Amino acid sequence: MPKEKVAIIGSGNWGSAIARIAGQNVRNHSDVFEEKVPLWVFEETVDGKKLTEIINSTHYNVKYLPDVPLGDNVVAIPDVVEAVKDATALVFVLPHQFLAKTLDAIEGKIAPNAKAISLIKGVDVHGADIHIFADVIEKRLGISCSALSGANIASEVALGRFSETTVGYRPGQEAQGLLWQKLFQTPQFKVQLIEDVAGVSLCGALKNVVAVAAGLNDGLGYGNNTKSAIMRIGLLETMNFCLEFFPSVKSETFLQESAGVADLITSCLGGRNRKVAEAFVLTGKPFDVLEAEMLAGQKLQGIHTAKDCHIFLKARNRLGAYPLFDKVYHICWEGQDPATLTVDL
Ligand code: NAD
Ligand code: 13P
Repeated sequence: MPKEKVAIIGSGNWGSAIARIAGQNVRNHSDVFEEKVPLWVFEETVDGKKLTEIINSTHYNVKYLPDVPLGDNVVAIPDVVEAVKDATALVFVLPHQFLAKTLDAIEGKIAPNAKAISLIKGVDVHGADIHIFADVIEKRLGISCSALSGANIASEVALGRFSETTVGYRPGQEAQGLLWQKLFQTPQFKVQLIEDVAGVSLCGALKNVVAVAAGLNDGLGYGNNTKSAIMRIGLLETMNFCLEFFPSVKSETFLQESAGVADLITSCLGGRNRKVAEAFVLTGKPFDVLEAEMLAGQKLQGIHTAKDCHIFLKARNRLGAYPLFDKVYHICWEGQDPATLTVDL
């Protein structure tokens, strides 16, 4: 049987961490995968040198994952079309705002037998329409797309701290789930499978809004009881949102999978959304300024997902059913006083 050729599309903090794991596992499963792992890198200059050249000579992504080597079989490529050429296993792991342009570039240029997996946390909203990114990828490229999400702070996964994640696969396509499990599972990174692409994707997207609320709480100094209440209400709104708008979602995903409550917890304790939202309250600076100052090129997702949810829920006349999501939107985008965080919850 021909071997699977992997390509990683995105090389930020999580993209680099997952490229490292994939680079190790293609060697561990050399009967299944080709050894070289192309990594699409959005080219930029770091200390006067091209990032792709630094990665290919040092095997470190010095900008986005400086402390852990990627492996010498992970090859940085600045041209996304070249990176995906002949690849049969496409891993999409980039901030959601850059997906559309990337799909424009590769549409019609991928292998006909390719399959994909989305590690992107966010939702695609156009007024009253909402889509998960696995569906966006599937529709644009005409290939099957799974989803991976979980309690996966990238730096901790990269350091080999024990973590779990969830792969959601399409109905009747467990074989694809098993292939992705083979690509990503290590003794320190447990991959569970569930037939629920939408649930895995939506939990990953919506927990970022809850993590922003947790960060606002921390900036306000409201303490752990309030933070726990935010996490509980956030999980409830996440579950209600999934069940209301994506009725195929499986209820097990919320509490039994890493993609559900576990990701919400880790993000509310240790994620970038939490950290920057805390600073938003403490400094009064806008989010875009804090993102640039605090994240060294990494991108915040939660504030954008809060806005997307607001647009969608307003168009559906359902804002009143999701008070926490909407409160995050108003504080982040409409200048509402953060001290109103818990009012009306
Ligand atoms: P990141 O936040 O580190 O983002 C930076 C990336 O964006 C870099 O690769 C940069 O080159 C790229 N970029 C910047 N401008 C660009 C442009 N104009 N066009 C294309 N690319 C551009 O990225 P990440 O942490 O790898 O996140 C990717 C996805 O994975 C997100 O949806 C995120 O929510 C999710 N995720 C992240 C983590 C984490 O801990 N970092 C964990 C799980 C999931
Ligand atoms: P942040 O983007 O808030 O760091 O969350 C990372 C994540 O998705 C952990 O699973």
